[in-house]
This record gives sequence, structure tokens and C-alpha cells, in this order.
Amino acid sequence: MNSVGLIHYNEEVSVYSLSCGNFSYQLRIGEREDLIHCYVGPRLRGPTADGSTADAPFIRRRLPVPYACTSDPADPSSSSQVIPSEWPGSGAGDYRVPAWRIEYSDGSSSRSLSVTDHRIVDGLPGPEGLPSVRTASGDRSLVVKLQDDAREVEISLYYGVCSDHSALMRWSSVRNTGSSSIRIRQLSSFSLDLPDNDWHCLSLPGAWARERWLERLPLGRGSFTAESRRGISGHQMSPWMALAAPDTSQDTGSVLAATLLYSSSFRLQAECSDYFQTRFMGGIQPDGFCWLLQPGEEFDSPQAILSYTTGGLNGSSAVMQQLIRQRVVHPDWSERPRPPLLNSWEGLYFNTTQQTVSELSAAAADLDVELFVLDDGWFQGRNDDTSSLGDWYPDRQKFPEGIASAAEKVRSHGLKFGLWIEPEMVSPDSELYRKHPEWCLQVPHGKMLQSRNQLVLDLANPEVVDYLADLFIGLIGSASISYIKWDMNRNLAETGSTVFPPEQQGEITHRYMLGVYKLADRITSAYPDVLFEGCAGGGGRCDAGMLYYFPQYWTSDNTDALERMRIQYGSSMFLPLSSMSAHISAVPNHQLGRSSSMEFRAAAAMTGSFGLEFDARDLSGAELISLKQIIRRWRAYQPLLTSGTLSWILPPDWDSSSPVRPAAGNAAWSPMREAAWMVSRPFPGHSHSQESREPEALVVYVQILTAPAVPPRRLRIPGLTDNTLYRILLRYCMQPDSEEITEEWQSSGEDLRYRGIQMPYLHGDHRIVYIEISRLQTE
Ligand code: DGJ
Repeated sequence: MNSVGLIHYNEEVSVYSLSCGNFSYQLRIGEREDLIHCYVGPRLRGPTADGSTADAPFIRRRLPVPYACTSDPADPSSSSQVIPSEWPGSGAGDYRVPAWRIEYSDGSSSRSLSVTDHRIVDGLPGPEGLPSVRTASGDRSLVVKLQDDAREVEISLYYGVCSDHSALMRWSSVRNTGSSSIRIRQLSSFSLDLPDNDWHCLSLPGAWARERWLERLPLGRGSFTAESRRGISGHQMSPWMALAAPDTSQDTGSVLAATLLYSSSFRLQAECSDYFQTRFMGGIQPDGFCWLLQPGEEFDSPQAILSYTTGGLNGSSAVMQQLIRQRVVHPDWSERPRPPLLNSWEGLYFNTTQQTVSELSAAAADLDVELFVLDDGWFQGRNDDTSSLGDWYPDRQKFPEGIASAAEKVRSHGLKFGLWIEPEMVSPDSELYRKHPEWCLQVPHGKMLQSRNQLVLDLANPEVVDYLADLFIGLIGSASISYIKWDMNRNLAETGSTVFPPEQQGEITHRYMLGVYKLADRITSAYPDVLFEGCAGGGGRCDAGMLYYFPQYWTSDNTDALERMRIQYGSSMFLPLSSMSAHISAVPNHQLGRSSSMEFRAAAAMTGSFGLEFDARDLSGAELISLKQIIRRWRAYQPLLTSGTLSWILPPDWDSSSPVRPAAGNAAWSPMREAAWMVSRPFPGHSHSQESREPEALVVYVQILTAPAVPPRRLRIPGLTDNTLYRILLRYCMQPDSEEITEEWQSSGEDLRYRGIQMPYLHGDHRIVYIEISRLQTE
């Protein structure tokens, strides 16, 4: 065995070299049959890219560690405190957080592992029952098997390499090869030890209505942890974390990023050791986790996506966005235009009746949207959030002729019909709860903690999953439904199940997630043409794992345009634009009471899958005209917004303590005053016809607040090719309600990158300039 496409094995030095697009990853089987991390960084292409120097003496030099615990006392540099590991265990004299911890049948947990087998396979095998990156032709995976000395467990480490993306997919699997049960206390998806500590930790902390604000902190000694213990990935932290070189800006600098395809409690961590080396790892949250594994059984970790890029935050997020859109989102939807919609929530709240739905959908049709979504409030007795979850049949007082008839009414206005559901929950005040109280997550002597007046159904119980699958497959089939919003409005708390024995209660949080994935898989597979949108009180479970089932996600309940720009900025660190829903809502905004102009709200809604969410029955004539224009504009940009990559020229990051800086050359960037972003597709290699009007890149410049005595911004456009001619079309209004001005000219890539474009003088706050860019020809 030596080289298979993207993976090369150098037998002489026992080094695996993985070519992951623009970066390389190397690991080695050590003298003690252990697995050693050798390299992650820019792609190695030279004569030693085969790993021949990965174990050279000048690389192997290590610090002798006094007082080290080692099996080789004659060699003080053999300490696991300084040997860079790919899969560190516990009790091995390392003292940092291990990547895995198993309690063996004799009660011990510290056994070392040795590599017993390694092979290269076609495709990207993924973990059982969990979402994973979809295989394409040319993909390859390395599988390394390790065993403990007593042969009680076999651990397989998977390294998947895509043929067409700069990413590495890692996950692990444990098999009980002994004759007694063992307990898995911790299992990471990936772990690697970097030789230095010169990193900033980037994470996406938040709260309800303030999801994914990018935070950046220098790594000090000790640990930086981004984690959730909520049974969902959560508003408070998203399962994405990156290590960035300290000089990293939006467009320059090295970024090692990881995201988990997992939507439950997780932990991502960077730990700087006493010897200034950095361990980066992530996987299932170990706190509270305990999985009983019987002889012959296997347990798989979730999959992690890793990428190493040198193009700053934009470079890193482009890799994640493109991989998730093309290989995680279902292929039927990755390039499929999403319909502009009107959602009833902020317009009607619980006042959904046949009458109001009919009126609102008629108003929506006047606005030229394509889909009307009936949000919460349509089912039996649901007049507020205190009851009825679980009783999924139409409220006969509100909808005497049922949902099929309501859908037909909406369709008679020329619109498609969408429906809100919350399958995983039950209200204590519901028929379902009265019939099956044992179907809720609960612990003996617990208090049945409620959140938003609801309890969580026990999706660890296969009977509950089957019941819900049959019910919702039937419900969706009972009417002409084109779209489903799958909501989930609370965190898990008492994660116990009535159907599992005491020794398996530590499995319930993870089993719940497996149940959700199974349910989502069954329902979405039954309706491949229905567009599913995920939601969890806004963006509370908005992660790559859920996007495997639902092509788009409601990133936040906060519909204020200014706040949404910041949420979309953080979310775009890994989520593609077409997967992040964003709506124009009413002013004053319902969450914050802030008023902003229609054009400003429209620009923010175009950072995601576009929609409206207000009572359209109330619109003035001027608002109607303006919204129709906005929807026309959105339609022109739709192909780009469907398959484009979102990058930020001036990030809308108002936190002055954040060291995130915009692209070099835009140094006069003033936080809170402006933002600018770009949506682009790779420009086609052939020359564009002079006649074509479809832009291949769209830059949106936003003057959030006007300022006195500040010259208009010179906006430099990154990412264009030097030797190439582009057509530039500027569209803007001088005054809020004045005629649109268009300006058109041609310019070269380097001119646009280095000289930039002087923005027009704009009067007032919340002003927008759209810049359409199309490639004409190579000069
Ligand atoms: C929370 C969601 O985020 C809202 O958009 C809305 O669907 C409500 N739930 C309905 O209860």
C-alpha cells in the first residue's frame, strides 16, 4: 500500500500524507505503534511532500521532560507531554484533556493503544445514524485501527479527504472486542497537537436573539472551551471554533477551523500546555455522557469538518460554506432557488384563522412572493404558548374546513403553502401528554422542568419516533404542503428515559439526538420536494448537522436588520447564505423597538434565504410599491444568492473590543457606521458576453449611520482577478425616497482591488449601494 489519489503512505517512515485541496495533513505511526501528529498547514507539493522529512531527526528533536511519566525512563524526551499526538488517552502521563476515555471491565481507564491496521478506502464512510459529508467520486478515506494491550477495544480513526474541497473529515468509532461490557465516558471526533501556541481562539457565543457573535481571544495557558450542555447545540455557543494566527484579518492569515456535524451537547477545545503546545479537539460533550458498550457492539462519534486556510476569515468561511452547501445540504436543494415567502408569525402571532390566513395570503400574493407560511397557532386549542403541542390536528374553531382547505385557499391566490410544526415537544396541557406522560424525558424524583410551558418528548424511545414519523408523514400528505418549518423551542434538562435501565441513562442525550436525526430523515425522505426549514427559538440548533436534513435554518428570532447583519456575519463563518433565512419585518421592530428604513431591512434580508414577516394587510401604497421593487431586485440577484459564497469587506461588528479587522486597505473602517459584504460565485473561465446582465458578484455597501465631515468610503473589492476586465454597475438612491441612480463602467480586477470604488455621497442613515460586478474578458 502506498499512494491512492489524495492519500499517500510512505512506508519507509510510516507517514501518511493527506492532500486536502489547499492544505496538507500528515500523521505517523510512532516507534511505540502510537499515532503521532506531524503537520497541518499550507499544501506541501515539493519533493518531500511524501512525508520523507516528517520524521527526520531535526523534526524528532524533543525537549527532555524532567520528572516525566514514561514507559521508557532512559529517554526523558519520550514523555507524552511533548510528543504530538493524534489520539491522546487518559492516564498516560500526558495530563491534558484526553480525546477519549473508556472504563474497561476491570474498572481501569488508562491503557495505551497501538496501531494494528491502516488502510485507504474509496469515498467518505460516515458514522452510523449521524449526518455526514456526502461522498462524491474521487473522495478517499484513511482508516487507522488501534487496540489496547488487553484487546478489549478497537478504535478506528477516520480521515476523509474530498476530491474537490479543501477539507478533512474526521470521526472515530469504538468496538468492544472483549467479552465484558465497557463504558465510553468520552469520545472525540478529532484531536491534534500543534507544536506552538501562537493562536487566537475564535468562537460563536450568543444568546436568544443574539446568536453567533464572533468572539476572538488570544489563547493563554490552560483551556479555551466552546461547548453546550443543553442537549441542543444552542443559542449560547455554536459547534464551530477556529484557531487563527494573531495577524489574521478578514482576508489574510492562517485559520484552522473545525465544525461538528452534530446538534446536541458538544465540546470544542484548545488547550495550551505547560510546554506551549496546543491541543485542538472536539466531539460529544463528555460531561454527563456515559455509553454502555456490550461485547461486539460499536459506537460512532459525530463527524467533524476541519479546514486550514491562509486567506483570513473570508478564506476559511468560504471553504466551510461551499462544502456545507454542496456536500452536506441534500443535493436536491444545494443549487435549488428558494421561494420568496411571507411567514405569518410576526403578522398574526396566534391569531391564525381561516379568515386571517386568507386575507394575509391575498396580501402576500399582491407582493409577488411565492409561498405563504402558516406559522404557530393553527392546531387544536393553540391560542397561546401554554397548550396543545402534541395535538397535531387543525383547530376546528379557527379552521372549520381543515388545513387542506386553508392550503387550497392560499393556493387559489397563486401561492404555495407552508406549515409550522414542533414535533419534538408536548404541552402538559394536551391530549397527547394526558395519554402518554411516560413519553416525556424525565428522571425519577425530578420536577418535570418546563420551558415555554412545554416538555420534551423522549426521542430516545423508538416507539415515540415511530409515532411521530407516521403522524407527520400523514399530516404533510393530507394537504398541498410545499414547505415545513420544524421548530424546537426549548433546551433539554432532565435527560432521562422511562424505557432504558439505570445503567444506560448516560446515553439519553445522545440517543435523543439520534432519534431526532432518524425522525428528520424519515419525514424529509418521504417528501423530497418539500422545502424544510429548521428553527429552534430562532438559531438555537443552527448547525451543519441539522442542514443535512433541512436545507435552510432560521438563524434568529431577532428580525431587526442591524442586529441581523451581525448574526448573519457570525453565522457565515460556516453556514452558506442560502441556508440562513432572513426576513424583512415591521417597524418598530418587535424584538427591539428600533425603526430602520425599508431598503436597509431589505439589504439585511438578502444576506440569507429571503422572506417577509409582517402583517401585509396594513401596507400603505408607498410601502407596497417599494416592496414590489425590492422583490424584483431580489429576483435579479436570486441565482447568485442561491449558489454564491458570502464574504465580508467591512464586517458589521460593533464590538470595539473585538480585534477582527476588515480587509487590508480599508483601514479607516469605522465600527457601527458601515458594513459591506460580497456574494460571489467563482467566475466562469470563459469570457462573459457584453450583453449578459446577470451579475456574478454582488457587493452591498451599507451606510448604517451617517457621519459629519467624513469623505465617502473608498471601497476596495477583494477577490477579483488582476488581469481581467469587469463591468461595474452601481445602484443607489441619494435620498431615502429619490429616484434610483445607476452608474456603469468597466474596470480591471487590480484597479478594483487596489484603487477601489469611491462610494457616492449618501444622505441619512440606513443607506445602501448595490454594486453588481460581471466579468467581461481577460485583458
Ligand atoms: C419560535 C420561532 O423562532 C418563531 O419564528 C415562531 O415560529 C415561534 N417559535 C412560534 O411559536
